[in-house]
Amino acid sequence: MKVISYKSELLEEVSILKKNQKVTGFVPTMGALHQGHISLIKCCNKECDYTIVSIFVNPTQFNDPNDYKKYPRILDTDLELLKKVKVDILFTPAQEEMYPEQDNRDFDLGELDKVMEGAHRPGHFRGVCLIVSKLFEMVQPTKAYFGEKDFQQVAVIKHLTRLMNYPVEIIPCPIIRENDGLAMSSRNMLLTKDHRQNAPLIAKTLFEATEKSKTQSVQETKDWVVRTINDNPFLQVEYFEIVDETSLKAISNWDNTSNKRGCIAVFAGNVRLIDNIRFNS
Ligand code: PAJ
Repeated sequence: MKVISYKSELLEEVSILKKNQKVTGFVPTMGALHQGHISLIKCCNKECDYTIVSIFVNPTQFNDPNDYKKYPRILDTDLELLKKVKVDILFTPAQEEMYPEQDNRDFDLGELDKVMEGAHRPGHFRGVCLIVSKLFEMVQPTKAYFGEKDFQQVAVIKHLTRLMNYPVEIIPCPIIRENDGLAMSSRNMLLTKDHRQNAPLIAKTLFEATEKSKTQSVQETKDWVVRTINDNPFLQVEYFEIVDETSLKAISNWDNTSNKRGCIAVFAGNVRLIDNIRFNS
């Protein structure tokens, strides 16, 4: 694994890969890696000749400066974990390398950033688009891998790719969970013991909701999820929506669409967790 911090060095490596017509796979991350990230790398290994991973805690996608400050940065541990899988290049740029000057670009994301994460984290997806567009232009991957854990992010990245005409295929990968069901997240390590113990209720409730949905309306199912989680003193729901998987528009009736996702954001103390689940009813 070559660890590269400079854009110029990365561009040199990429130009050699292009010349050799290698299928390049890319896994962008913000580090504090866990098995969710590793699953994307393994998927990339299977489908591509060459695997490039980036670690960069992107300041422009944090709407809360405190969240940015406390975001875990554990590069040494990340490097240990990455040794166990095949990574050809790890790109770990400094902030000046990615933002040598202020980037004022805006992206027309239509309705995609007006709902859920977009509505509750203003500017978040613009920041994601800023950094992913820069990374795509540097890495020029054939395929890029994103986790469905951030379901709305996948929809936004697919939209960005079309908008900017990037010749990259976006590959969504399934959510990896802890044994107790909690969706793996870099933020889980920030949870207190009590919050960590209670956080699996989020996934448990989502799974049960897919059962309830067989006999209950959309509104009844939504109300049940919010009530069940909020009844726990350690958890507070920010939103729970059941949406069409492509448009991300909220549905009011199970028959509105065949592809439905329930997406949730929950505060466990001051740590914000997200999760989602497919509904088949
Ligand atoms: P980060 O939160 O580090 O996540 C990097 C990638 O890992 C994302 O595609 C995310 O969806 C995926 N991932 C995280 N937890 C997962 C899990 N439990 N199962 C499967 N995949 C999981 O998402 C970002 O970073 C940033 O927004 C980024 C795209 C790197 C832009 O800065």
